[in-house]
Amino acid sequence: MNLRVSRVVHLKGTVRAPSDKSLTHRAYIFAMLASRGASVIANPLQGEDCENTLRIAVQLGAAIQRGPTSVTLSPASALQQPAQSLDCGNSGTTMRLLAGVLASSPGIVAELRGDESLSRRPMRRITDPLRSMGADIIGDQAPLRVSGANLEGIHYTTPVASAQIKSCLLLAGLRAEGTTWVTEPAQSRDHTERMLKALGVELQSNGNNTVGIAGGQSWQGFEFSVPSDISSAAFFMCAAAMVPGSRVLLQEVGTNPTRTGVLEALAQAGAHITLIPREDQMGEPVSDIEILFNKLAPFEIKGEIVPRLIDEIPVLAVMATQCEGTTRIRDARELRVKESDRIETVANNLRAMGANVVTQEDGMDVTGPTPLKGATIDAKGDHRIGMAFAVAGLVASGETTIENADSIATSYPGFESDLSTLTERT
Ligand code: S3P
Repeated sequence: MNLRVSRVVHLKGTVRAPSDKSLTHRAYIFAMLASRGASVIANPLQGEDCENTLRIAVQLGAAIQRGPTSVTLSPASALQQPAQSLDCGNSGTTMRLLAGVLASSPGIVAELRGDESLSRRPMRRITDPLRSMGADIIGDQAPLRVSGANLEGIHYTTPVASAQIKSCLLLAGLRAEGTTWVTEPAQSRDHTERMLKALGVELQSNGNNTVGIAGGQSWQGFEFSVPSDISSAAFFMCAAAMVPGSRVLLQEVGTNPTRTGVLEALAQAGAHITLIPREDQMGEPVSDIEILFNKLAPFEIKGEIVPRLIDEIPVLAVMATQCEGTTRIRDARELRVKESDRIETVANNLRAMGANVVTQEDGMDVTGPTPLKGATIDAKGDHRIGMAFAVAGLVASGETTIENADSIATSYPGFESDLSTLTERT
């Protein structure tokens, strides 16, 4: 499927971007692992990534019932041996978190597989520490063949700040002997920790981005209403910030501080942002966010903020083309091992639209403002690249065609219709 986008006069209106992907994955996994009782997950993300996690929960014995806006998940008394391999599709979160669950499930032998992109992504970052805990895993890239075993807690220091690594090890640690500790070089998103605490699980912390979990803790079914995903809302926030005359309200956005780096980058660039707090959900702050256009200045992204906006860098780089001066992005080497090499895909596509970009091993410099010109963009099967360049198309002359835009459905199934809601009156 190709997505065609033309220049707009402005963006105006209100949208609830789809629900949070990270939170939906975790809600399904924690519901599947509850010792007893069904969980009701309201407004789950119905994108393909989370549907893969849900399908795997069923393969492992959970029963599900779908309501109009919710999923009720009843756990099996113990995880069941799956009859077939477990297809994680494009989803790194599914594969890495479930590897921790399966590795600590004695008696279960399962294969985790993925699509072409996921099969290229590094898994040694989880298989190495899991093996140090005693896990039996064949493969360091998908497919991974995991034979559940009795694990022992370790203290692991990760070389990269990654919530997927941390969550994988905390999930493995839940059923390991003793305590499992994870230390990261910077704070990554802490959804797993917040959800576990809300479920009554005790976590330990000795500061310095270190978290510990003692094995043998359990919880019961829960109710959770998933807020909107700031990573999806970010496409319209950046679009509104850079298209003159725009004013957009994004509803019920999850504003966990480990995810709000994009708001800080937008503020640094001079965008007008207002947060209207809403009710928290399982320890996750939620706000409506209003963004107004303003003349934008360049901004700098480096150091501890990087994990807090890692998924928003493609669209922030697009926005940087409209800022007056040079925006510098550094310490973002992780972008090279996402659904595509996002440093190269962003830079090549921006250049195709006439932008001034210099890449670095761990980031890029973007100098603006540049009048972008419409081009044909290959999203390389990467949802965030597809959407970031749809946003670029809103300020480009002529037409921008995003080829192979189907991947957008992994995180934002209604993207095209929300885009037209915000632009139809122009
Ligand atoms: C995610 C963590 C991030 C993020 C991904 C989802 C999660 O990956 O890029 O989209 O749900 O834990 P890393 O933790 O590997 O950086």
